[in-house]
Amino acid sequence: MKKQMNTPLFKALVEHNNKNPISFHFPGHKNGQNIQSEASHFFEQILKMDVTELSGLDDLHSPEGVILEAEQLLAELFQTRKSFFLVNGSTVGNLAMIMAACRENDTVLVQRNCHKSVLNALRLAKVRPVFLEPEYDHDWKVATCVNVDTVKEAIGLYLNVKAIILTYPNYYGIVSDLEGIIKEAHLHHIPVLVDEAHGAHFNIGHPFPASAVQLGADIVVQSAHKTLPAMTMGSYLHVNGHLVDVNKVKDYLQIFQSSSPSYPIMASLDLARKYLATYTQQDLDALQKSIKHFKAELENIPGIKVLSYPNQQGDLLKVTIQTRCNLSGFELQMRLEEEAVYTELADPYNVLLVLPLLKEGQRYPFGETGRKIKKVCKNLPFQEQKSKMTLSNRKVSELAISYMEMDKIESMDVLIAEAVGFVCAETIIPYPPGIPLLLKGEEITNERVNQLQRLLETGARFQGGSLLTQGKVKVFIKNKK
Ligand SMILES: Cc1ncc(COP(=O)(O)O)c(C=O)c1O
Repeated sequence: MKKQMNTPLFKALVEHNNKNPISFHFPGHKNGQNIQSEASHFFEQILKMDVTELSGLDDLHSPEGVILEAEQLLAELFQTRKSFFLVNGSTVGNLAMIMAACRENDTVLVQRNCHKSVLNALRLAKVRPVFLEPEYDHDWKVATCVNVDTVKEAIGLYLNVKAIILTYPNYYGIVSDLEGIIKEAHLHHIPVLVDEAHGAHFNIGHPFPASAVQLGADIVVQSAHKTLPAMTMGSYLHVNGHLVDVNKVKDYLQIFQSSSPSYPIMASLDLARKYLATYTQQDLDALQKSIKHFKAELENIPGIKVLSYPNQQGDLLKVTIQTRCNLSGFELQMRLEEEAVYTELADPYNVLLVLPLLKEGQRYPFGETGRKIKKVCKNLPFQEQKSKMTLSNRKVSELAISYMEMDKIESMDVLIAEAVGFVCAETIIPYPPGIPLLLKGEEITNERVNQLQRLLETGARFQGGSLLTQGKVKVFIKNKK
């Protein structure tokens, strides 16, 4: 534990700065001495740490000194075989994890409501993805996680599955029976790769859900910057077990990451690890007390409902409020912004607040936030939220054409009503539920067209589908069945 008090990389940067160094190296701001006056107030201090691979400061791509020490402390804290600092977010972690674990044409099971970095990685790796439909929570009106039965069904349907790729928790902090899925996968010697972008703090333990690392996942990627006090883009990648080759992960990380990694980001990862390692039971008690108090205040506000996690299992740091008035989640979020309260996300029904992982004695303006939410919701008429979405009953699905073929075929626009039998050339994601309705490369069925038309008629919002407002979708020119 005493070792975890150290911050070797941060300390080396402080010592370097204490020498009043004269810079004749990159970057061009020269330890912050050459910056424009209007920016100096904000940048001056941090740029003193924005250096390059100087003597004593090690090299992220071939660490032997302070970066290696800092990564070893991270591995020791999470009890992994190897842990890496990432300077390009969980995005790069997902790319490297999937490229390292999968080969061309491998069959891999993938949670369908995954982050785009996972979809991009599948494409780069040229695998044969089998998509697993997540569950849907009717109270929250959002897609949640994949359940064990869906995984069992897919393992039964496909011989030779080479990896399972899951997202845990979902954006709203909801978790699945990941332990059950990992047990099932390991029975078949299938590695489990987890995008735990939102759960870097889960190793604190109960009442936080267990971390995917603790549950035995083979590779876990975490955005330290999302919930720990780390700088944006700072992330961790952990390798557990022996089902995936660590050297391949290392190799892909040096391919995908900058050859000039940011020292402020890396130092913040070193500090965030110490923050997590030194988080005490008293800190946790104080945090729980503050959150309970904050939620109790919100629960008294007419016009919103504070949602509870299904089975009481979920991330304490996420608070989702659902409107019970004539505002959509998006409108509520905008009104809060007018009061200078900036939230993480809104959907048609909900607004998601991400709370800080405070330690005992640290303050945060929860009271003021509660008062502002109350002000925004004042005198709004009560309105029950009705979900307007339709769900697929297919739990397991595949692409109609491979990624290799997709790269070679041109696309065109067709009317939605005439799209049945074509292969979709874009990914269309309705919100809610945030589960892709059509993935690039999937066949457009009659059922999908009906769902899409119903969603459009009921005013659903979409990500992707740039031509939907014209009643069209992009399809590949060949391949109509
Ligand atoms: C589930 C999930 N995975 C991965 C990412 C990418 O993370 P990063 O922003 O650290 O690259 C995000 C970003 O929001 C995410 O929500």
